[in-house]
Amino acid sequence: MISATTAKDRVLSGMQPSGALHIGNWMGALDNWVNMQDVYDSYFMVADYHSLTTGYHDTRGLPTLVFQMVVDWLAAGLDPKRSVIFRQSDVPEHAELHLLLSMITPLGWLERVPSYKEKLKELAQRDIHTYGFLGYPVLMSSDILLYRASKVPVGQDQVPHVELTREIVRRFNGLYGEVLLEPEAILTEAKVLPGLDGKKMSKSYGNTLALGESAESIAKKIRVMMTDPARVRKSDPGHPEVCPVFSLHKIFTGSQQVQEIDGACRTAQIGCVDCKAILASQINAQLDPIRERRLEWEEHPKQVQEILQQGAREAQKTAHDTLTMVKDAMHLNSLE
Ligand code: TRP
Ligand code: SF4
Repeated sequence: MISATTAKDRVLSGMQPSGALHIGNWMGALDNWVNMQDVYDSYFMVADYHSLTTGYHDTRGLPTLVFQMVVDWLAAGLDPKRSVIFRQSDVPEHAELHLLLSMITPLGWLERVPSYKEKLKELAQRDIHTYGFLGYPVLMSSDILLYRASKVPVGQDQVPHVELTREIVRRFNGLYGEVLLEPEAILTEAKVLPGLDGKKMSKSYGNTLALGESAESIAKKIRVMMTDPARVRKSDPGHPEVCPVFSLHKIFTGSQQVQEIDGACRTAQIGCVDCKAILASQINAQLDPIRERRLEWEEHPKQVQEILQQGAREAQKTAHDTLTMVKDAMHLNSLE
């Protein structure tokens, strides 16, 4: 038995299967996960049930979306030896705890979650006036609570869901006894990367650089990236603070070189063509090892499947224990 003082905190986080990831997903979330693996007892989950809440209409693409995302996870450094990597729908306990928690979650709490009304509006054409979509945060609570995760690394947009999880815990424990553990959100440092057009990098804007994209393709896309619009000729002084190329430099290029570029741009000593070539080589140098590992995994889908199966077995042990405690507390397991 590990003593409480040496046991690591447990984290659980999830991502909806969105296929091949872009460098914004990498810098925004995945890279944080990779770094957490040694610090925490880590669970990383493909949230495929969550993707049904807004994408139930056509699920044919799911296997590819899951596979491509997991390949990126592994290529970026998630390590099945150090983390439990699994798919939500492979562990039926998620569905069962979701059902039980749905019994005690007031509708008002769910309707008040800010993302609920926002998404209904944003995705008006999709018809997500469904029971499942309203219950999205209950499902997310089940994910967290099954593993008794004390820390949940998420972006700002997901914080209200973790807050709701805490409320559900208090209600459950108040009704049935101290069984569930209140989790805490860890806000991952918000690095929002600009896309090729200067808007936020996002698949839906088609302005991304993919994690596994070829070096040539990355260089080519950067060559036509938007820059400071006021800089028409090479002799015009530039304004790095409004240039998306520069924003990417700040993330991918060493700080000393970034300062040099800043100065050279303002004094028109560097042209955008050269500046972009430096950026492309910086990004490519960092993506090279990922790209290589990605190709390896892509050629071995059986191994990827094995990793998910093994992860699900591992996850299920913990999930099953928690669910048993929950059902015991609710007097669902026995006849006496
Ligand atoms: N809802 C999260 C998102 O879309 C994904 C997710 C599902 C999650 N279950 C989770 C994140 C549990 C953290 C913990 O980003
Ligand atoms: Fe942007 Fe670089 Fe051109 Fe300056 S030199 S405007 S930072 S691309």
